[in-house]
Amino acid sequence: MSRFPENFVWGVASSAYQIEGAAAADGRSPSVWDTASTRDGFVSDHHSGASACDSYNRVDEDADLIAGLGVNASRFSLSWSRILPEGLGKINHAGLDYYDRVVDALLARGVEPWVTLFHWDYPHVLYELGGWMNEDSPQWFAEYTRVVADRLGDRVKHWMTLNEPQCFVGLGHSIGEHAPGLKLPRRDVLVVLHRSLLAHGLSVQALRANADDHKIGWAPVGVTAYPDTESPEDIEAARRFMFERCPPGDAWSFSNSLYADPVIFGRYPNSSYGPVVAELPAHPASDLETINQPIDFYGVNIYQGTRVRADDDGNPEIVPPPAGQPRTMMDWPVTPEALYWGPRLLAERYKLPVYITENGCATTDWVSLDGAVRDPARIDYVDRHLRQLARAVDDGVDVRGYFHWSILDNFEWAYGYTKRFGLVHVDFDTGQRTPKDSYNWYRMLISSHQSVGS
Ligand code: FCB
Repeated sequence: MSRFPENFVWGVASSAYQIEGAAAADGRSPSVWDTASTRDGFVSDHHSGASACDSYNRVDEDADLIAGLGVNASRFSLSWSRILPEGLGKINHAGLDYYDRVVDALLARGVEPWVTLFHWDYPHVLYELGGWMNEDSPQWFAEYTRVVADRLGDRVKHWMTLNEPQCFVGLGHSIGEHAPGLKLPRRDVLVVLHRSLLAHGLSVQALRANADDHKIGWAPVGVTAYPDTESPEDIEAARRFMFERCPPGDAWSFSNSLYADPVIFGRYPNSSYGPVVAELPAHPASDLETINQPIDFYGVNIYQGTRVRADDDGNPEIVPPPAGQPRTMMDWPVTPEALYWGPRLLAERYKLPVYITENGCATTDWVSLDGAVRDPARIDYVDRHLRQLARAVDDGVDVRGYFHWSILDNFEWAYGYTKRFGLVHVDFDTGQRTPKDSYNWYRMLISSHQSVGS
């Protein structure tokens, strides 16, 4: 593998609802994931994040595991309903104390906290007021941001506003597989989308007002395309597939440009997006100015890509996967090229430094009789993906960091605890943590890139 630059950010990632547990502790109120999880059939095996990895009660143990990898950054999210149990107004100091402890434990171990403000666990009380459909919802998010920044902004310098808006907008409000589990008509889903982007913009403003040394980005997902060959035609087809083609049917909400163009360029896309954009709620031009705040980096979560080529007319077409295509436990294809072309095409279009804010895979791991957890497929997956990322660095793509999803096995949303993504195995009955083989592999990889002159 080529070398990564010495100042490359090596990290791990997690999110509040997926690891914290302690759902009713110290004044926290339910999020939409707590309430949706109680519905029959919403989450596999009736699981919920009520106890998860119990990270709420294991701050030092988890910080030791993170620091033990030699990473210089840890990405985690905050639970809005732990901090503001009424969604707004009254601050729950016990909730903020917990995040103080997490931030301080990381900093004491030389690990920079990278905080995501919203990773899907919307306060249920605000959902009852209409959630993202309420026109005040962007202001609610700004208030929450101010509360957090006032408390943590002296030590947290890296922020992401929204995690994967494509998922909470699309899976949450259109397809209904994620909380709050709605299947709204497209026109309403577009209201949710527009308000979340406004929330992003107001949140960036609130962070900037708090201190001028914050580095602010976001962590969207979206369709990653990579070209079948490196011919200019196939590369152009991949580019068009990623940014100009509105994903068909229900998948429209997984677009890149429908979210990123307003955030980065201050306008919604046109061309093939015509019918979708035509259904956006009427909004004043000033909305787009609010959405279009300068940000410092483009975080992106990439797990897989779609192989695309130019057809006879030069239009993008999907190349069918080969028989026996390798797949992870999520049934996602293993396509390492996505970690070359994703950052390359995103950096080219949006002209911002890119961080891979999530990448990883679910595999079949268990604790062997001898106590070890062997996960050779995860090691191979990460190795292949990091080789492609290193190639992007070699080719001059401005990619500055990689956060592995995830440090711990955790609550995988609608799949409950049935999918394990961690570098560390978690026994969900006892909370026992066991570093997997991949943990040691990642540790050695990081150290080989950090040691000068090796
Ligand atoms: C992403 C989510 C993250 C995790 C991984 C596997 O879509 O951001 O919380 O569930 O997928």
